[in-house]
Amino acid sequence: MSVTLVIGTQWGDEGKGKIVDLLSKEVDIVARYQGGANAGHTVVFNGNKFILHLIPSGILNSNSICVIGNGVVIDPYALQEEIQLLNNFNIQVNGRLLISDKAHLILPYHKILDKASEECSEKSIGTTGRGIGPAYIDKFARCGIRIGELKENETFRNHIEKNFNEKIRLISNVYNKVIDINLEQTIDDFLKTVQIINNFISDTTTYLNENIRKGKKVLAEGAQGTLLDVDHGTYPFVTSSNPTSGGACSGLGIPPTSIKHIIGVCKAYTTRVGNGPFPTELRNEIGEAIRKEGFEFGATTGRPRRCGWLDLVALKYSVMINGLTSLAITKIDVLGQFDEIFVCTEYELEGERTTNFIPHSQILSKVKPIYKKFRGWKKKLNGISEYQKLPTQLLEYVKFIEEFVECPIKIISTSPDRLDTIIIE
Ligand code: IMP
Repeated sequence: MSVTLVIGTQWGDEGKGKIVDLLSKEVDIVARYQGGANAGHTVVFNGNKFILHLIPSGILNSNSICVIGNGVVIDPYALQEEIQLLNNFNIQVNGRLLISDKAHLILPYHKILDKASEECSEKSIGTTGRGIGPAYIDKFARCGIRIGELKENETFRNHIEKNFNEKIRLISNVYNKVIDINLEQTIDDFLKTVQIINNFISDTTTYLNENIRKGKKVLAEGAQGTLLDVDHGTYPFVTSSNPTSGGACSGLGIPPTSIKHIIGVCKAYTTRVGNGPFPTELRNEIGEAIRKEGFEFGATTGRPRRCGWLDLVALKYSVMINGLTSLAITKIDVLGQFDEIFVCTEYELEGERTTNFIPHSQILSKVKPIYKKFRGWKKKLNGISEYQKLPTQLLEYVKFIEEFVECPIKIISTSPDRLDTIIIE
């Protein structure tokens, strides 16, 4: 039994792509279990920068098979673009990608609904506009369309047409918006594009379980992060799925007992895209400097990410919710520019201090972060490949983190490049 999970511990964009790419060298199968093309996993490979939204980053490693599990919502247009991108770089996808027949499709009306609900809502979530929320709404309202239906030529078009007409009524009656599309043509185009999935449809649940039983190594990669989890995150400013470790079991159909390692990926500071509370946000020149040095712009939407100091109250919560067995700290090089570095160790709320994270947006937006100060290392980290050779001030910083959250740090990433990674045995 050897499944390893890679989980985002913050509000996404922790650098999971690089960690998955690194670990996938040692595994047979890499699987995605939730979310959709809202994610953006950036990997630098052979000098080229790849941003993958849907296909697991393991596809860059020619020995791995990639699985998109039942918990993912699939936009065939995004999939087509990504396959094209990979083919342009001679990366073989055919025969190496399996898509669950139980995964749900994102239809054009989901994207229209996503935008309409954001425009009409009093409190915009700041979604990626990729139709993620509306696709999951349909899944749970039991009117979604599963990939497996693609095989049912007779009824597939009718089902899409029926749903589309219902959504057009919803959009015009509830959101007061006129949909200016040629319905026949939009459906024809969708039906043409969706055929690409036919090459990859599979019973991934059985495939994964059989391979786990045979002793194959599986890496399950989460998209987004713990604080964007629909149950455990800063609701309602969250995504519509479960990026936390529990989501891997339901999103792939694998038993909890098959999971051996749970690696939490954590940036050495914090970022957030979209709206919602962010206690350690720096709306000043320090936040600006982090954004610039860390190139903190959304990989999917290009939006500038909000930046702030590391929040250990939130990280400790992530360790607890996910049952993390180790941590990977990324982008620590970005902090090399500062004389002093701060980490949040407590929240103050109405005169009281707490070390417990508060996953309720209204309350969390009122807390004041209490910081501990560290000396900066003011050094470039290029070429350092051993833990002991890292600057003393940096070691003080990471040791404090692991002791505070009670989880060992096993990986430190010092640049986007595969080579700039320190593995701590
Ligand atoms: P949705 O997932 O598009 O519905 O967006 C809901 C919230 O999750 C918004 O605040 C998005 O900015 C955020 N979000 C979704 N995917 C990602 C991601 O991959 N990284 C960071 N934030 C994300």
